Amino acid sequence: MTADEKMKRASIGLLGYGTVGSSVYRLLDEQSIEIAQATGASAGVKRILVRDISIPRSDAPAELFSDDFDELVEDEDISIIVELIGGIEPALEYVTRALEAGKAVVTANKQLLSQKGSYLFDLARRNETMIRFEASVAGAIPIIKVISESMVAADFTSIYGIVNGTTNYILTEMMRTGARYGDALARAQEWGYAEADPTEDISGKDAAAKMAILASIAFHSEVSLDDVACVGIEDISELDIAYARDFGMTLKLLGVAKLYDGRINVRVYPALLDREHPLASVNGAYNAVFLKGNSIDEVMLSGPGAGGIETASAVVGDIVSIMARPVAGRLDYPRTHNGLELFPDDEVVSTFYLRLEVDDEPGVLAQISQVFGEHEVSIESVLQKGRGQHAELVMVFHPVAEKSFGAALKGISGLPVVKGRPAPIRVERDSE
Ligand SMILES: NC(=O)c1ccc[n+]([C@@H]2O[C@H](COP(=O)([O-])OP(=O)(O)OC[C@H]3O[C@@H](n4cnc5c(N)ncnc54)[C@H](OP(=O)(O)O)[C@@H]3O)[C@@H](O)[C@H]2O)c1
Repeated sequence: MTADEKMKRASIGLLGYGTVGSSVYRLLDEQSIEIAQATGASAGVKRILVRDISIPRSDAPAELFSDDFDELVEDEDISIIVELIGGIEPALEYVTRALEAGKAVVTANKQLLSQKGSYLFDLARRNETMIRFEASVAGAIPIIKVISESMVAADFTSIYGIVNGTTNYILTEMMRTGARYGDALARAQEWGYAEADPTEDISGKDAAAKMAILASIAFHSEVSLDDVACVGIEDISELDIAYARDFGMTLKLLGVAKLYDGRINVRVYPALLDREHPLASVNGAYNAVFLKGNSIDEVMLSGPGAGGIETASAVVGDIVSIMARPVAGRLDYPRTHNGLELFPDDEVVSTFYLRLEVDDEPGVLAQISQVFGEHEVSIESVLQKGRGQHAELVMVFHPVAEKSFGAALKGISGLPVVKGRPAPIRVERDSE
């Protein structure tokens, strides 16, 4: 059977029937007429891989389920494998074998792509097949297609992303109500925006995986999860939130991928943003990606970043793209031909905000200023407030190399007048 003939009736092997997998199954059924009209072919799920076939599942007939991957990969009629298991293994083995068998692959798996992306892209290229992964970043927002196809001539210089809905929900709640971090997290869990174990989200790791994927495709270079340093939101205090509000700013967990003299820096950290910044108005569990490029100026896309049906819509979009173009072309497997190097984190020049609890006695500010001065860190503004026996210093600095700021912070932390562990927050300004 030729590739064209196979695609007249695209048989799909679905790996996983959880939140997203079951929604994909339903959406393919509900949208079958639109899909046929868009592609001139019909799409049907032929087999579904799960761990335990004895569990009754809604919607799909029992005879479709299998617990044997060989049955799917060895079935010549199946032309598209849709991986919705998650995690590295066995997803990596299954996707590898599917590509080696010449099947097209659709996946929503950010862990897999951020750690094994280059390997899988190369495998797809060598086997003259396709790998698509729209749902791996920012759910329903078609950001992968926009970056790699619609904006292929954008000449990107930076990408800013609010790519984790859980943390955006928590920070929005803290900004909106003044709630403490722990209370906002509990509310997010109660409303289903945070998992029982929210570590991946609040530590920034989930966002780091997504930023690695975005940076790889925007800059055509290999960026893996290990290349992305991340700071989470666990240390954000309601006091920082109150100061942010006073300064006319908002606080977001940002993924930032930037080019510096032809080298790439990708990181995730909480950042203060001016209230007028387009990303400042992205609230709740919504995601957004703000793109800058020499040929596009600035473009922002926003929308739901997760959810079974929202994610499934991106997966189905990938299936439709494959069906509409049965012979693999260069756009169907991202390339990392630019091979750009990474720009070191500590050479990045950033603006910092810092809240310090200090002894309320004369000369404290002078001691602190001296340490900053020794490291050539220049203070832009200082605010001092009494808090019982202690005083609170809130400082904003002129842009400084992160290495110098880190060294100054170490010095400050060692001063007996400074209480607690200083937790600086970056201020993201457009000019930097
Ligand atoms: N949920 C979202 O909103 C969302 C958003 C964006 C991206 N994603 C991504 O989409 C993927 C799927 O997420 P999900 O939320 O649908 O996960 P989920 O609800 O946990 O479902 C996972 C499915 O995979 C099956 N599975 C797990 N390990 C397996 C194995 N070794 N062999 C066969 N089947 C196995 C499970 O089978 P059993 O039922 O038998 O255990 C289950 O049906 C993940 O990569 C996730 O990161 C999810």
